[in-house]
Amino acid sequence: MSTGHAEGIEALFAPAREQLEARLSAYRFLHSLSVADTAQAMAISYGVHPQKAWLAGLLHDWDKDLTDEELLARVKEFDIPLVARLEDMAMLLHAQTGAVAVARAFPELGGDIIQAIARHTSAAPDMSDLDMVIYVADMIEPLRSQGNLTSLRASVGKVSLETLFLRSFEMTMDHLIRRHRFIHPDSLEVWNTYIARERAGN
Ligand SMILES: [Fe+2]
Ligand SMILES: [Fe+2]
Repeated sequence: MSTGHAEGIEALFAPAREQLEARLSAYRFLHSLSVADTAQAMAISYGVHPQKAWLAGLLHDWDKDLTDEELLARVKEFDIPLVARLEDMAMLLHAQTGAVAVARAFPELGGDIIQAIARHTSAAPDMSDLDMVIYVADMIEPLRSQGNLTSLRASVGKVSLETLFLRSFEMTMDHLIRRHRFIHPDSLEVWNTYIARERAGN
């Protein structure tokens, strides 16, 4: 069943896992493995490339354990726009810096995997299926205990991938508002875009 392309990706599984383990705390590494497995299962359910989903899920938090100083250095090096104070944006930025860093560490990786990593925090108005799989898998992976994820987990395979993404995104926005946290302006555009699409579909 494997194509040459898929085998090329699978050759990266072991080195990616090894390098990631050296970068992350034990907790964050286990979360990454759990997101990879969850993303792969979701990919099979929604007709997305399972190996790409596993790898994107594995690598999505590549820069998550950087200190603020290291993150700021990355932001400057990669020319990533700061639209708010670093401390307000720190939770979001590891996606964007991580995507560039992963592309540099693994030049063989396709742009679709890099994009899914970049979009796993603030999302984007034109999410690909792989982007949505990674976004949702990051939220529902079984090691996560906070929040009420039961209905979201039970919806996998029963509702469309876009509906699943919108429900996940809604929980994130709700969480940010309740905790009085910064919301990236791009996320408001994502919200308005997908709400309009949902209404048009009804
Ligand atoms: Fe993350
Ligand atoms: Fe994560």
